Amino acid sequence: MPNEITRIAIIGAGPAGLLLAWALRDAGIDSIVVENRSEDYVLARIRAGVLEQGSVETLTRLGLGDRIASDGMVHNGIYLQADGVRHNVNFNELIGRTVTVYGQQEVVKDLVAAHRDAGSTIYYEATDVSVHDLESSDPRVTFGHGGEQHTITADFIVGADGFHGVCRPSIPFSDITLYDRNYPFAWLGILADVAPSTDELIYALHEDGFAMHSMRSHTVSRLYLQVDPTEDIANWPDERIWETLQTRLAVPGWTLHEGTVTEKSITPMRSFVASRLDYHNLFLVGDAGHIVPPTGAKGLNSAISDVTMLAAGLISHYAGDDGLLSRYGAAALARQWKVQQFSQWMTETLHRHPGDLQTNEFDYRSQLGRIDYVTGSLHAQRSLAEQYTGLPL
Ligand code: FAD
Ligand code: DHB
Repeated sequence: MPNEITRIAIIGAGPAGLLLAWALRDAGIDSIVVENRSEDYVLARIRAGVLEQGSVETLTRLGLGDRIASDGMVHNGIYLQADGVRHNVNFNELIGRTVTVYGQQEVVKDLVAAHRDAGSTIYYEATDVSVHDLESSDPRVTFGHGGEQHTITADFIVGADGFHGVCRPSIPFSDITLYDRNYPFAWLGILADVAPSTDELIYALHEDGFAMHSMRSHTVSRLYLQVDPTEDIANWPDERIWETLQTRLAVPGWTLHEGTVTEKSITPMRSFVASRLDYHNLFLVGDAGHIVPPTGAKGLNSAISDVTMLAAGLISHYAGDDGLLSRYGAAALARQWKVQQFSQWMTETLHRHPGDLQTNEFDYRSQLGRIDYVTGSLHAQRSLAEQYTGLPL
């Protein structure tokens, strides 16, 4: 029955957990990561694609920037499209900031490789992970691994275990409130072996619904379509997906190139924020504490900003100053609510809202008015640029 002692026990080897372990290691603070999936599963998960400038800076500062610099695609802005008209919003010209297209899968690959080289302790395929004694100075994690029961005793436990993890539900019900909102639509996403048909990402509102053109490299495109949340992927053969993308992304004189679809999935969209990200000696980071709908590309970036703040708090705690750590929850939530309203704004602006015809038509015309306003106002574009490229910590 192995018993181990560490300073920080981290639950979850997604981007948040792996990055926190790496940032702590960089500062000489030991940690152990416990993950219930296999390493292969963690490496294969395809999700977000856009890094804010601050996220790139954080990863680079921690020695994880080499492949971002060689393979990441720096983007100066985005296209906003409505009713068949496409407008460029150039963040770099507006506020001197950029974003980088670099898949979450690549960030995770870099982190897994760095940890492997450094000999970090990461337990994959852990079973029955649970956390105990959060109110005491010796909180514990127990789990099964390789046929043995393990116990880790730590100074702090960090829940980096995503929306469905065990850490947030370990906070007594009476001590936490969950705020959420479900949207009446989902995203059908594909990866396709075809060069992107655009230089910048396209976010398009069409009368049939939202569509988006993103990318992963000079030879791989990532595209999304608004669908009903009850849709079955089996109803979406590749021909139907391309036909719908062709309709919703169309502008005169532009061609969407098609290619072999290598991955497709449907993701529901929700907004969710927990009322607290700290409870005695437990801290929550990333999706364990909050979820955004993907339209503003903020999920992964919020996980990185939480980790940056928590790592700074833990490092100064071990240097004898508890100020930053005691402010972590409030500071991360304050930033997160600003990110939430932006993601909600992007989502509600760019999707067709189901409902009775009259409301629906009113909403749609009002959304067209919003996009018309933003694309015609430098003040509004600067606000969009500031939020899309990333608010300060
Ligand atoms: P996660 O990536 O969820 O990592 C949590 C980790 O904890 C996982 O490895 C999980 O296996 C592990 N875990 C869970 N339970 C336990 C347990 N009991 N014990 C041990 N380990 C556990 N964001 C965007 O910006 N754009 C997108 O296009 C986009 N697409 C997405 C598609 C999907 C299907 C999902 C779910 C999310 C998407 N997101 C997107 C959001 C973004 O990917 C997340 O915000 C990001 O992954 C958050 O990182 P995290 O480390 O906090 O959580
Ligand atoms: C991608 C995902 C997003 O949610 C987004 O807003 C932009 C890009 C992507 O997967 O490439």
